[in-house]
Amino acid sequence: QTILILNGPNLNLLGAREPDIYGAQTLQDVEAACAALAGELSLTVDFRQSNDEGELVTWIQQARNSAAGIIINPAAYTHTSVAILDALNMYDGAVIEVHISNIHKREAFRHHSYVSARADGVIAGCGTNGYLLALRQMAHRLG
Ligand code: DQA
Repeated sequence: QTILILNGPNLNLLGAREPDIYGAQTLQDVEAACAALAGELSLTVDFRQSNDEGELVTWIQQARNSAAGIIINPAAYTHTSVAILDALNMYDGAVIEVHISNIHKREAFRHHSYVSARADGVIAGCGTNGYLLALRQMAHRLG
């Protein structure tokens, strides 16, 4: 079964981007770790990043026919995007929201997530290990 892992804006610069908050791992490192764990869990990952809200919406729409679950770090769109929430509301599979940092410990504008209204689970503040925790939860849910 395929799990779509979606990453929103500025996560392409992970590793270089505010490393005190987001850590030293690059997005390529995260992708490699997810692919390795997926292998152990007998899952396949389709790992993507976009800085474009519309592209993320299109990928979520397409996942209705191809993915057993979606792990999403919507990045800044977490706090702004009704369009991403609406797309996820049309999706029938499991959805897990991941944030590298603990958004609740940060500025007030990061405390609200539109995506959490749809997410089956939310992981925040576990660093990039949050993606691996989310994958394990997906495997658990899919039995
Ligand atoms: C983030 C938290 C968001 O508030 C921020 O805009 C990001 C990354 C995280 O992974 O901690 O870009 O989603």
